[in-house]
Amino acid sequence: MPHSVTPSIEQDSLKIAILGAAGGIGQSLSLLLKAQLQYQLRESNRTVTHIHLALYDVNQEAINGVTADLSHIDTPISVSSHSPAGGIENCLNNASIVVIPAGVPRKPGMTRDDLFNVNAGIISQLGDSIAQCCDLSKVFVLVISNPVNSLVPVMVSNILKNHPQSRNSGIERRIMGVTKLDIVRASTFLREINIESGLTPRVNSMPDVPVIGGHSGETIIPLFSQSNFLSRLNEDQLKYLIHRVQYGGDEVVKAKNGKGSATLSMAHAGYKCVVQFVSLLLGNTDQIHGTYYIPLKDANNFPIAPGADQLLPLVGDAAYFAVPLTITTKGVSYVDYDIVNRMNDMERNEMLPVCVSQLKKNIDKGWEFVASRS
Ligand code: NAD
Ligand code: LMR
Repeated sequence: MPHSVTPSIEQDSLKIAILGAAGGIGQSLSLLLKAQLQYQLRESNRTVTHIHLALYDVNQEAINGVTADLSHIDTPISVSSHSPAGGIENCLNNASIVVIPAGVPRKPGMTRDDLFNVNAGIISQLGDSIAQCCDLSKVFVLVISNPVNSLVPVMVSNILKNHPQSRNSGIERRIMGVTKLDIVRASTFLREINIESGLTPRVNSMPDVPVIGGHSGETIIPLFSQSNFLSRLNEDQLKYLIHRVQYGGDEVVKAKNGKGSATLSMAHAGYKCVVQFVSLLLGNTDQIHGTYYIPLKDANNFPIAPGADQLLPLVGDAAYFAVPLTITTKGVSYVDYDIVNRMNDMERNEMLPVCVSQLKKNIDKGWEFVASRS
């Protein structure tokens, strides 16, 4: 039996499963959700009266402790603890959103790709469980674990290939890699440099900076040319900013010196994503907008949504790409291809080709893993 700290009424509940919830990201993200999601409920015009956080981790002791601790927080969000002993199905049954920060993080000197072997095994196992326990025609799956560039292809192709019930479920429109941390960093670093150089008086607002491509080194393309912050960056400042966003993860890995990678900033970024999906599924809004790393073609090899057909040739037919999207309860409904049209020459001619050639290798690696598994 799962250790259910607060009773939950599954029928009237929006259930969010967090897999890897005892880890650095999982704990902080669960805290933010437990403390803040009640505000979404207040706006809800649906019959859902309750939000339930189902927390799963292979570390049973740790997840029981985290759940007991969170359960004392005075918000009307219920929490339950799950581990392999009680079965992952108790966590995943009836879940509308599954968030996955399960897996190993980097240590200094490692690339995200070095995590592939261990984390691809974890992601495909979790994908099998999602396919067995969740309603594939409804559930949203947000993949945080690294390397995102390869693990989202693993998640999508494993489910489509090995789980016949996925056919025509449209699940590939609802599996997304979380690249929001790159957007959070781009905004933070741009504001910082503007203030340092006395370029902006708007110290209390944060810039929006679109970031597209993937989530690793040069696959990350921050589009400072499309920021809403008017700034006159010189060439050196621009180069510095691009590099800092592309290698922001390394800064944290280095500073933590063997004790993992970004957890708090990632939890903040993940919270911003989950809260939007909650708002969508509660009916507070009909559609949400956000940038996620997604397959650009569906299971039948057709463009995943309007806009993807225009984007595919622009991104050298990369099969997966992080791009601003419109999302409804059915999944991705529009792909903002025009963001690539609006790139400046340097972004289009220098950054994009490097991104796409690396992405293709990362995606192939994911596909090969799934092919070799079955
Ligand atoms: P962590 O080691 O602190 O936590 C990972 C948790 O996953 C642990 O509690 C572990 O017990 C659990 N786990 C391992 N295998 C599992 C399984 N099969 N099922 C359920 N739980 C399992 O690591 P972290 O710092 O939280 O990072 C987690 C992952 O997120 C890493 O791969 C990291 O690289 C990635 N990450 C991604 C981003 C991003 O922007 N997408 C940002 C930061 C970190
Ligand atoms: C990040 O960008 O901080 C994460 O992807 C974690 C890492 O390994 O850098």
